[in-house]
Amino acid sequence: MTGIIADTKAMQYHIGLSAQMLCGAQYVFLPGDPDRVNPIAAFLDDARELTQHREYRSALGYVDDIPVLVMSTGIGAPSTVIAIEELARLGVIHFIRLGTTGAIQSHVHLGDLIISEGAVRLEGTSGHYAPIEYPAVPSLALTLKLIEATKLRDYPYQTGITCSSDSFWPGQERYDSFSGYVPRHLQGSLEEWQRLGVLNFEMESSALFTIARTFGLHAASLCGVIALRTQSEAVQQNVYAQVKERLAIVAREAVRLHHQAHGTPL
Ligand code: URA
Repeated sequence: MTGIIADTKAMQYHIGLSAQMLCGAQYVFLPGDPDRVNPIAAFLDDARELTQHREYRSALGYVDDIPVLVMSTGIGAPSTVIAIEELARLGVIHFIRLGTTGAIQSHVHLGDLIISEGAVRLEGTSGHYAPIEYPAVPSLALTLKLIEATKLRDYPYQTGITCSSDSFWPGQERYDSFSGYVPRHLQGSLEEWQRLGVLNFEMESSALFTIARTFGLHAASLCGVIALRTQSEAVQQNVYAQVKERLAIVAREAVRLHHQAHGTPL
């Protein structure tokens, strides 16, 4: 791997973190929402907040003696990729997205966890790193550990293909936007993704998978279902707390399992 900065005190411009502040953390949990950082970090040992800069709030904690960073990405691919770029320079190797999502298949339920096996690149940012023919696939090893950890807890879950869109409204074929208009090329897109077996919509995984792969790093995505798009366009805020807890518990366990099986590559 290339590009790790030598000066451990040097601050990364967007995220406001230095290698020294990470205490050697090679795993990061990536929720989108800054308000989810501390509640997720609370499931780690000895958690403490590090900093907040723009949409990037960060906290550090431990799984046994493994240091783990929790940092928000903000919404969407551009800010997520800035996070990966700068965290990679600080020595982070394993990136686990902990997000929320809208399910588009009728067999998926509110609160279910979705572990992505791959993602449709319906966003522009990853195209700045690799041509569109390049697949957005997660780390198999990390993904298998997310599945194992979810099974250990007996949480309901699905694995499959995620669609990562650049917009919450037209890109996910929502008509309750300000204008109510979905451009023609996106009309019918929800049904098309359904028929192609896609499980869910969110906005970050495909860029995360693509950029991590092109950097030789490892990424996976675990999302909790907060909208059932087969029934409505609305998000159901009453499942937030349950989803947040499930994401944090599974991610913690997955790090333990992954570290046990693979150690921490230097
Ligand atoms: N996040 C999304 O991008 N879409 C949803 O429907 C829910 C969360």
